[in-house]
Amino acid sequence: MTPPPAPARRIVFLGPPGAGKGTQAAELARELGFVHLSTGDLLRAAVAEGSDLGRAADGHIRAGRLVPDELVLAIVRERLGRPDARAGFILDGFPRNLAQARALEGFAPLELVVAFEIDPRQLVARLSGRRICPNCGTVYHLDARPPRVAGRCDRDGTELVQRPDDRPEAVEVRLRVYAEQTAPLLDYYRDLGLLRAVDVAGTPAEVASRLRRLIAAGPTAAGSPAERL
Ligand code: AP5
Repeated sequence: MTPPPAPARRIVFLGPPGAGKGTQAAELARELGFVHLSTGDLLRAAVAEGSDLGRAADGHIRAGRLVPDELVLAIVRERLGRPDARAGFILDGFPRNLAQARALEGFAPLELVVAFEIDPRQLVARLSGRRICPNCGTVYHLDARPPRVAGRCDRDGTELVQRPDDRPEAVEVRLRVYAEQTAPLLDYYRDLGLLRAVDVAGTPAEVASRLRRLIAAGPTAAGSPAERL
């Protein structure tokens, strides 16, 4: 009997702002014992600390623009170079453009890129209802994932806040930046045979079970067609 395939271990979740990448990456990476690397989370933490990186990134994030590639590449390269990343990783929010994707290939070649497919109208609902804990970063949604006590983090009781880039003006810029700079990566990874698309409508639990099946199916064979789950 042929043994089941080993799960994919070097994975990117690719999709527009608010598609649910961070929600799913946090949960699945925990389950699989992988590193969850969210460049957005790392940059927001740097802003909160007031480090040099945070000061350089703050204005770009608030406006909804991409932070310069060299800053982001340095943090990704450092994080993926640590021993725990050898078990596997899920990248969420990186790469964001072709320059980042090409650079990543040089130090951490991928096995699977999952395209999150969603009706654009749902994105605005997901972003406008999002609240986060400024202390531990846990992500909630007013309707889809409300905290047990309104306005307070389930983990540490901190008052929840709205991300500054979830204001409508910044959301508009982020969606445009996604269409212009990040969406071309779909063709790039399709041509490399690494892309699989997942419909991310439905509850977080439903989406998680589709993603689990995809990851369990193993690394994507180079040259195979993009499939939809
Ligand atoms: P980043 O933090 O990466 O933001 P993003 O890609 O725009 O993605 P989001 O965090 O908005 O959405 P998500 O898909 O993770 O959705 P979530 O799971 O939270 O980047 C922020 C900024 O940092 C960038 O604009 C840029 O300035 C900078 N940056 C980051 N990376 C960079 C890079 N590589 N290069 C340059 N600059 C970079 O879900 C959204 C909401 O929906 C939540 O409330 C959640 O609870 C809810 N939800 C999730 N799933 C479901 C579901 N199935 N049904 C209903 N609600 C759901």
